[in-house]
Amino acid sequence: SASAMWGGRFAAGPSAVMEAINASIDIDQRMAEEDIAGSLAHAAMLAATGVISSADAAEITRGLTQVREEIRAGNFPWSAALEDVHMNVESRLKDIIGEPAGRLHTARSRNDQVATDFRLWLRAACDRIDAGLEAYQRALVEQAEKHIDQVMPGFTHLQTAQPVSLAHHLLSYVELAQRDRGRFADARKRLNESPLGCAALAGTAFPIDRDMTARALGFDRPMANSLDGVAARDFALEVMAAAAICAVNLSRFAEEIVLWCTRRFGFATLSDAWSTGSSIMPQKRNPDAAELVRAKPGRIIGSLTGLLVVVKGLPLAYSKDLQEDKAPAFQAVDDLELALAAMAGMAADLTFYGDAMEEAAGEAYSDATDLADFVVRELGKPFRDAHHISGSIVRLAEAAGVPLAELPLETMQSVEPGLDERIYSVLSARASMQSRTSFGGTSPVRVREQVEAWKARLSA
Ligand code: ARG
Repeated sequence: SASAMWGGRFAAGPSAVMEAINASIDIDQRMAEEDIAGSLAHAAMLAATGVISSADAAEITRGLTQVREEIRAGNFPWSAALEDVHMNVESRLKDIIGEPAGRLHTARSRNDQVATDFRLWLRAACDRIDAGLEAYQRALVEQAEKHIDQVMPGFTHLQTAQPVSLAHHLLSYVELAQRDRGRFADARKRLNESPLGCAALAGTAFPIDRDMTARALGFDRPMANSLDGVAARDFALEVMAAAAICAVNLSRFAEEIVLWCTRRFGFATLSDAWSTGSSIMPQKRNPDAAELVRAKPGRIIGSLTGLLVVVKGLPLAYSKDLQEDKAPAFQAVDDLELALAAMAGMAADLTFYGDAMEEAAGEAYSDATDLADFVVRELGKPFRDAHHISGSIVRLAEAAGVPLAELPLETMQSVEPGLDERIYSVLSARASMQSRTSFGGTSPVRVREQVEAWKARLSA
């Protein structure tokens, strides 16, 4: 038989494949809470404006409350024949309250309904992601606080560059996560407008109060253009773009965890709770969770790209193509939330091998810049000349197979006669780290200030 919701002009029902391609209930039932909240607000507004009677609104409210309980209890009879969450809820409402259920859809369409539900769902997702990012930041700051004086090699090109504080390294990810939070906050702010009452595409002739429903649902205002209200999906794209950037950011620390936990680096280890074994190699201890976070951008960027392609070139206003928006958005949010939880867990779990980090920090002439800086500061040479002097001394030390700190002063003086014994005081990884006191630099003095600032900021 034809659909009870829209079957008036149809003599026969859809083919099985038609029903299969049309149904979105497996995906959009996740928006049931939002759908019912929207309907409750809409019904109250219809009564307040005299479009329906207060008695009908009361029945609708009672019925929707029962539907919500059934859904929460997990015994709601979802039906693919009823296509989507909107019609499933409304159909069940009719079973429960009868005739007044048919009045709920006055001055409304599934087009504004779905846009409303989806914005509400993504708004809540932004809030959960923000909490996830904050938990990740807290874990990083707690580790940072314990490792302010821990020196490690800083890298450029993954080649040993200059010594840095481990805490400084960890705090760089706290800064990055803060900008991710800002991107979600921006997206949340822009998406928090109500499409409800835009109806199918053109608005409605009923004397509705869109401010009232917007307020009831926590939106900042009703959307000002009905076509825009039902057709726009940039709000979802924006959240997903923020998710893609965030996932890429997480993947960078995930990759460092993988590297640091290798025998070659030997900087850190994850506990049993965050490690996995091999089914063939009994000795293995693998950082699978970090690898999976490293892989998540593949899925999340894929979800974003998928929706970008769905929306591209779509004429106004609503087309059924837009039903393909929820699956990738939910997927991206699910993936990101899991990645965030895993990163917060691993960040808290990591045990660092301080001696190995310090030893590595002093290798590979990581103090060569300090030698050059000394030549500038104490001998008044231009930095370019000092760079050349330091480079020549590194070459001699490398040939002798010793670090700069073990190269005899006479050898250094063969390159730069002005050098004296004081040079040895700057030649160590720790001294190098401690010397970089510029704002934003890695000296523990500066890093401690940043740890304190973050602690205050995150507890506020
Ligand atoms: N399930 C649909 C979606 O997700 C709801 C809107 C349907 N609108 C329509 N005109 N068929 O987009």
